[in-house]
Amino acid sequence: MYPVVLFPVFSTTLRLYLVSLSLKRDTRYNKLEQKEQENCFFHGEELAGEIESIGRDVTRFKPGDQVFGFDMFGAYAEYKCMPENGALANKTANMSYEEAASVPNGALTALPFLRDKGKIQRGQTVLIYDASGSVGAAAVQLARYHGAEVTGVCSTANLEWVKSLGTDQVNDYTREDFTENSKTYDIIFDTVGKRSFSECKGSLSDEGIYLTTVPTPMGILNAILPANRGGKKVGFIAAGLRSASEKIKDLVFLKELIEAGKIKAVIDRCYPLEQMAEAHSYVEQGHKKGNVVITVEHNNK
Ligand SMILES: NC(=O)c1ccc[n+]([C@@H]2O[C@H](COP(=O)([O-])OP(=O)(O)OC[C@H]3O[C@@H](n4cnc5c(N)ncnc54)[C@H](OP(=O)(O)O)[C@@H]3O)[C@@H](O)[C@H]2O)c1
Repeated sequence: MYPVVLFPVFSTTLRLYLVSLSLKRDTRYNKLEQKEQENCFFHGEELAGEIESIGRDVTRFKPGDQVFGFDMFGAYAEYKCMPENGALANKTANMSYEEAASVPNGALTALPFLRDKGKIQRGQTVLIYDASGSVGAAAVQLARYHGAEVTGVCSTANLEWVKSLGTDQVNDYTREDFTENSKTYDIIFDTVGKRSFSECKGSLSDEGIYLTTVPTPMGILNAILPANRGGKKVGFIAAGLRSASEKIKDLVFLKELIEAGKIKAVIDRCYPLEQMAEAHSYVEQGHKKGNVVITVEHNNK
């Protein structure tokens, strides 16, 4: 028998883009025709809930376990059925379901970018371009955890809040373009795909790396071909496409960091499931802080 776990989803984070690759990054849920919305393949990817029942061969979970995780095949649901070896981990008791559901999108993206592609080291200088979104807020905290000196770029309204996430410096992108001052960074992580490698190259240290979550075709070419970039590198990964076992390891690691108070969940707003359209409208404005979470009620729990 195929081992599955079944649990009611108590909360699931809402992502701005329904498909995480650049080809469809401008696909906005509310702009789709109703039929397209109904047929839309991706309805959320992050979730948290409680295991309700398990298949006969399941050993990793038991009913009542509180879990959080990631499933690219959808999370806007009251119940979700997942394989036992899916990207799920037990959530920590000091996290609410809302907090737990808000962790996977940003942190499961920022962690492999900084650790695996960026090879982040203690003492390095790291610039996070857009430090206030889901990936950005997680990236600031994880870069800080790894002992880097962190500069967070954000708009004026978010300066104080981004500082409170642990940045050493903040840069207001509405007033100053960081590429025009002479400071250089070992890692520039563009979490929102707004700056290209060619724009950032002059701000990279000699062996520095530019990372982007949303590469252009030229960005992908730059990541593959070493031409014209000296010792400077370009890095991209499709974090959502990593194996479930890699994600499980990272979920457990992130859970430990949260338990130890090293990083925290960042929630902007919560909406009930019934207000999904309003939630999407808010997210689609493109200025949320951290994460927007959908809360699903189960018998007033
Ligand atoms: N490669 C992967 O594996 C992967 C994984 C996950 C996500 N992604 C992609 O990564 C991107 C970011 O995702 P996310 O969930 O972190 O986004 P998000 O939370 O929706 O980003 C919102 C943030 O973007 C900032 N922003 C908007 N315009 C900006 C500008 N011109 N310059 C700087 N910041 C700006 C906003 O700050 P202000 O209000 O201050 O403007 C806001 O805080 C998405 O395109 C997503 O598809 C890729």
